[in-house]
Amino acid sequence: MPKTLTIIDNRTGKKYEIPVENDTIKAADLRQIKIRDDDFGMLSYDPALMNTAAVKSRITFIDGDKGILEYRGYPIEQLAENSTSYLEVAYLLINGELPNKQQLEAWRADIKRHTFIHENVKKLTEGFRYDAHPMGTFISTIAALTTFYPDAKEIFDPAMRLTQIHRLIGKATTIAAFSYCHSLGRPLVYPANELSYTGNFLNMMFKIGESRYDVDPVFEHALTVLFILHADHEQNCSTNVMRSIGSSHVDPYSAVAGAAAALWGPLHGGANEAVIRMLDEIGSVSNVSSIINDVKDGKRKLMGFGHRVYKNYDPRAKVIKKLADQVFAVTGRNRKLDIALELERIALEDEYFIKRKLYPNVDFYSGLIYETMGFRMNFFPVLFAIPRIAGWLAHWQEHILDLEQKITRPRQVYIGHRGKTWLPIDKR
Ligand code: CMC
Repeated sequence: MPKTLTIIDNRTGKKYEIPVENDTIKAADLRQIKIRDDDFGMLSYDPALMNTAAVKSRITFIDGDKGILEYRGYPIEQLAENSTSYLEVAYLLINGELPNKQQLEAWRADIKRHTFIHENVKKLTEGFRYDAHPMGTFISTIAALTTFYPDAKEIFDPAMRLTQIHRLIGKATTIAAFSYCHSLGRPLVYPANELSYTGNFLNMMFKIGESRYDVDPVFEHALTVLFILHADHEQNCSTNVMRSIGSSHVDPYSAVAGAAAALWGPLHGGANEAVIRMLDEIGSVSNVSSIINDVKDGKRKLMGFGHRVYKNYDPRAKVIKKLADQVFAVTGRNRKLDIALELERIALEDEYFIKRKLYPNVDFYSGLIYETMGFRMNFFPVLFAIPRIAGWLAHWQEHILDLEQKITRPRQVYIGHRGKTWLPIDKR
C-alpha cells in the first residue's frame, strides 16, 4: 500500500503527493501547495487543535472510543489496583518504566529530601489575603519557587533537571497544604517524612493540635488511587500549556505555574468543583429531570460529563465510582451520590447524550469523594494539580529533549484590516 496522500488543488489543477507516516501528514508539507510562487503556501486551520498532533510522545496512550488509558503501556486500572504508592507511578511517568525496589527507595528518599519549603516561601503563603483561594495561592507560590532556585534554568543539565523534578513533586503537597490551612486560618503543619506521600499530605492538611494525627488508611489509599488516576492524561489543555511554555526553555517552576493556571478553569480541572455546585443546586433526585431538560435545551452543561477524547465511559470514572463505595463505607454515604447516580442513569439513556457520546468523566465522582473526606470545594483543583505535576514534568522533559521540537508558535489566519492610515485623535 503506497504511504502517500494525493492532493489535487482544483484552483490550479496541480497534483501533490504527500507522505503519510503514523496515519498523519506533516502540516509543513502543505506549504508546497501554492497558487503563485511567492505565496506563503497552504496552512491547516484547526481551532482548539482538535485534529492536530503537535508532538510524538511515549508517555500516555488514550483510545477515546474504546475508553482505554495507559501510562507508559500499563493500563490505568492495573496501576490503580496494584500500585502501592503515587510515587511509584510518578517514577513510571518520568522515567518510562516501573521502578525496582532499590530504585523506588532511592526515588522516595530523593523526593522526601525536598518536602520542606524555604521559610520565606512560607512567609509568602502567609502574605495572601486571609480568605485567598488555595489554587491562586498554590499557582503563585509554585511560580515564586523560580526565585529560590535559580539553578532551575539549567534545563539541559540532566542532574539539575532531576533536582527540580524532586523539588516540585516533594514541595507540591507542602505548598498545597499551606495554601489550604492559610485560607482557613489554621496553623501550618510541617512535613512528616516518615509517612507516605499521601499520608504526609493528609497529616499536613488535617492535623490540628494533637501530637499524633492518625491518618485513616482508607483515606490514604483513596487519595493514592485518585492521585494515580490524575497523574497524566496526554495532551490536555494544561499539558499543552506546560509543553508550550517549556518550549521557550524557561525553568520548570514557571512552566508548572502556567500549566496549573490552565488546569484551574471550570472546563478542565475546575470541573470537579463545578459538579458539586451543580449537585447542590439540583438539591434532590426529583429535580434531576428538569436539569436534564435545561441541558438539552442548551441552557447549561452537565458538569462532569463529556470529554474531548473519550467518546465512551472515562476509565478513570469507573475506578472512582468503585472507590467512592469504599470511602462512603467509612464516612457514611454522601447524600449527593443519589443525585449523581440519577443524573448518570437518565443521561446514559437519553438520546441527546447518546447521540453526542457524552459519558461521565473523571470529575463526575471525584468531587463527591473529596467532599466526603473533608476537603473544601475550593481545594479540589489543587487536589488535581498535585498529582498532575508528575505528568507535566514527564511531558516537559520529553518536549525539551525532542530534537524535532522548537519554540511553539502556531500560525493564524488573519482576517482583520490592513494598511490603515493613522489619524490624530480629534479626526477619528
Ligand atoms: N453537557 C451537555 N452537553 C455537552 C456537554 C456537557 N457536559 N459536553 C459537550 N456537550 C455537547 C456540546 O454542546 C456539543 O453539542 P452540539 O454538537 O449540539 O453543539 C457536543 O456535546 C460536543 O461538545 P463539544 O463542546 O464540541 O466538546 P469539546 O470536546 O469541545 O468539550 C468538554 C469537551 C470536556 C470541555 C465538554 O464536554 C464540557 O464542557 N464538559 C463539562 C466540563 C467538564 O466536565 N470538564 C472536565 C473534563 S475531564 C477532566 C479534565 O481532563 O480536565
